Formats: sequence, C-alpha cells, structure tokens
Amino acid sequence: MSLHSNTESTVVIIGATGDLTRRLLFPAIYRLYALHEWPDANIIGYAVEDWSRDKFLQHLEDNLRQFEHDFDPKVWTELAARIDYRQGDLTKDSLAKLSPKISPSTLFYLALPPQLFGDAAQGLGEAGLSTESKSGYRRLVVEKPFGWDFASAKALRERIHDYWSEEQVYRIDHFLGKETSQNLLVFRFANRFLEPVWNAAHVSQVQITVGETLGVEGRWQYYDKAGALRDMIQNHLMQLFTLTAMDAPATWDAEVLREHKVEVLRAVRGIPPEALSDYACRGQYTKGTIGDKAVPGYLDETGIPKDSTTETFAAIKLYIDNWRWQGVPFYLRSGKRLAARFSEIAVELKDVPTGLFGKPLSNWIVFRMWPDQCIDVVAWAKDPGLQLNTRKIVLATPYEKTDEPDYTAYEQLLLEALKGDRGYFLRFDEVEESWRILTPVLEAWKSGSPAPYGAGSQGPDEQNRLMIHGHSWRTIGGRD
Ligand code: BG6
Repeated sequence: MSLHSNTESTVVIIGATGDLTRRLLFPAIYRLYALHEWPDANIIGYAVEDWSRDKFLQHLEDNLRQFEHDFDPKVWTELAARIDYRQGDLTKDSLAKLSPKISPSTLFYLALPPQLFGDAAQGLGEAGLSTESKSGYRRLVVEKPFGWDFASAKALRERIHDYWSEEQVYRIDHFLGKETSQNLLVFRFANRFLEPVWNAAHVSQVQITVGETLGVEGRWQYYDKAGALRDMIQNHLMQLFTLTAMDAPATWDAEVLREHKVEVLRAVRGIPPEALSDYACRGQYTKGTIGDKAVPGYLDETGIPKDSTTETFAAIKLYIDNWRWQGVPFYLRSGKRLAARFSEIAVELKDVPTGLFGKPLSNWIVFRMWPDQCIDVVAWAKDPGLQLNTRKIVLATPYEKTDEPDYTAYEQLLLEALKGDRGYFLRFDEVEESWRILTPVLEAWKSGSPAPYGAGSQGPDEQNRLMIHGHSWRTIGGRD
C-alpha cells in the first residue's frame, strides 16, 4: 500500500504483534484518532511474524472491537489507511529496509521484552535510522524496566548512547501520564496554602500505595523474573515519590523539572543492609478470595516454578536527607492480589499540639488515583449534639469531569513523545538513582523467601515492621 505522501511524521512500533501494542498502544492511538487528537502521523507495525498488512490490520481490529466499547468502523477504516506492517528482525540489514518508508521525523517505539531494548537500539543505529537531519527528528521510546539493576541499567544506557543521544531517548513510565501524577504538581504548585505545611515541621509521614487485585495475568515469564520491586516500586512508585517530595521548579522546562526530581532521589538516605527488615518487606500471595471469586496462590499460577521466591508484594521505607524532609518516613508499597484495586498518595500532618479534645488529632491529605481520581482531606469537625466532641470528616474533591473525554496515560504520553516534551519521560539519572537506592534490597532478596499473604488480604503482616512508633498502614480499600 502507499501511505500518504508528505506526512509530517511516522511512528514505528517495534514489537507490533505483542501484548503491549494490542492492549495499550493501539487502543490509545485509536482513541486519539477518534477524538481528532492524533497528529499527522502514519504508523508502521514492525515485528518478526511473517504477516501480511491485512492480517496485521485484522489483528488490530479484532482487539479494538474487544477493548473499545465505542468502536466505530468508519473511524477505524480511516485510521487503518495510515497503518502499514513490515516483517523483520532487529538486525541492521532488516531494519534498514524501513528507511524509504519513514518520514524525516520518526519515532521508534520499542514495545519489546526488556532484554531486547539494547539490540533494537543498536540495530536501528547501525541502520542509520537514529541520525537526525535538518528536516526532522529521530526519537526512541523505551518501555520499562530500564535495566535489571544499577549495573545493567548503566550498560544499557551506554549501548543505547553509542547511537542515540540522551535528548533522543524517551524512557516511559506510564504513571507520569496519569491525571493524578500531573495533578500532584498542579495542586502542590498552584495553591499557596499547601506549601507552608509541606515539610518536616508539619508532615509526620507519607504513604504511597498502589494495590492491585490482578495476579500475573499470563505475564509470568516477565513477572517471575521481575517481581514487585522491579515491576512497580523502582519506577512507578519512585516517580510518585519524587513528585510528592520535590521542590517547585521555576519553569516547566523538561530539564529543570527532571533536575528537581533527581535531587530528591540523590538525597535519599541509603537503606542500611544490617537493618533491612525495618526498611523493606516482601510477600508472595497464597490462594484466597478476591470479591467472591476464589483465586489460586502465586505458586499455582500457570508457568510459575513451584519453588519461585519472586515477591508479588513489596514495601520500602525511605528517608530524604534534606531540609524539607529530614526525619519524615516515606512508606511505599505495591502488591498483586490485594484486598482492593486501590492507589493513593497519602500525606499525614502531625497531631495538633494540645490535647484540647482528649485524643491525638491529625489530618491526612490524600491524592487518590483509584478507585476514583480525587483529593481527600481527612479532618476533624464537631460531632453534632450537646457535647463538644470531635468526629472525623472527609472533605472530598473529585476532579474528573464526566462530560469530557478521559485520556489514558498512553494517549497522553504518545502525544508528548510526538511533540517532543521530555518532561513526561525519565532522564537516565532518575533511573540510575532509583536503582542505587534499591540495590541493598535487591542484594538482600537474592536469598531467603517472601512472607506469604492470602489473596484478597492487606498484604503480609511483616510490612508492619517498617512502621515507626505511632504509624500504621492505611487500609487498602478504605477512605480515611
Ligand atoms: C505495569 C506493571 O507497569 O503497571 C503491571 O508492569 C501493573 O504489573 C501495571 O499491573 C499497573 O498499571 P495501571 O495503569 O493498570 O495501574
């Protein structure tokens, strides 16, 4: 087929027959197209499968019909005219055949298993496809995880940088495309009332929880190697952590923003290996019930080795050695098969100084991502009646607009990558610092085994060891 001539840009998805493309990338492209947000860009799917273009389009259409409630065949026909398919592997000769098909401005999206990121970046580079001309850009979007630990992340970076400059590399963390992540910045820096209390003088603790009810869902080959620390904490939760703790940037410049984020990570105190169980906890789910559905334990999931010690739950405690956060514990945890799908960033203010009401009274400021996008302030008010008693109230502020389209993280990030806004993507030093912080935990967890927790529960009891005196975990699925 012949694609439209003089198209502004091309998106090449490498690994186009895989799960990520099917479940996330094409639904995002389709929705953007339907909402007239998709820029003038053609799409080339590239993969090893010897498929025809028609077969590829049919595969995409079948999936869209399954995932998109509002699937519109007319929109699809228009979009499909912009899509091509090329079969090939990651060698330079094979990739070089893409050259006449792409625009001067082309974005290569690596929707591949992580162990192939290096090969793909190198193959594209050797094929000359990373070389930018005056008339356009060449960008490389790399999925997570970026590396497997500190050393492999550095090695991957060097391999990529043999052909691609840091400015050309867009490391994705899809949590940065979520509304709540962006709202953290807006709410923190567009309101004056928060800043005076957003520090160690007033905050007693921060809890960041991303809880899922899903299990490994057929991704066992990847997940059993990764585990919850690599899959969620190293990237998504660390990003939420930096957005919560960073200082205000003076401008929305990508480098300034990322510099402020990385400063937080640089100031994180090393986790002491000799007291590791007070700083990190891991768990693995056993059989249980989610809602009213019985689910198997991790070791009974298809493909998982019976003696696997991979953690499906991870929690860590971090301290930031800077003026703003000295002494405030940040607790981060994430797990599969927990009591509820539930994600939030919860900041607790210290108790009021006097015992005027006979009990300690603190407030929580909560940025919730799931089940609803919301800011909650948990406060105290008078309990109606003749006595001067207190009762807890939740000042809830949902900020979703029901009458406007909801954009997914992938929609937002695809557009930002095409626009070239690197502020939505990770700079290498963010990734590097995050691996540095977690190295003692990764080392310690090479031996021993995770604590069991029943599917549908709050996670392993061992997580309570992380809490300092007076703190306890918030309830997964709770509100206050
Ligand atoms: C992915 C992890 O990055 O994020 C998955 O690999 C996890 O294991 C997912 O389920 C959670 O993202 P979301 O957007 O569904 O909350």
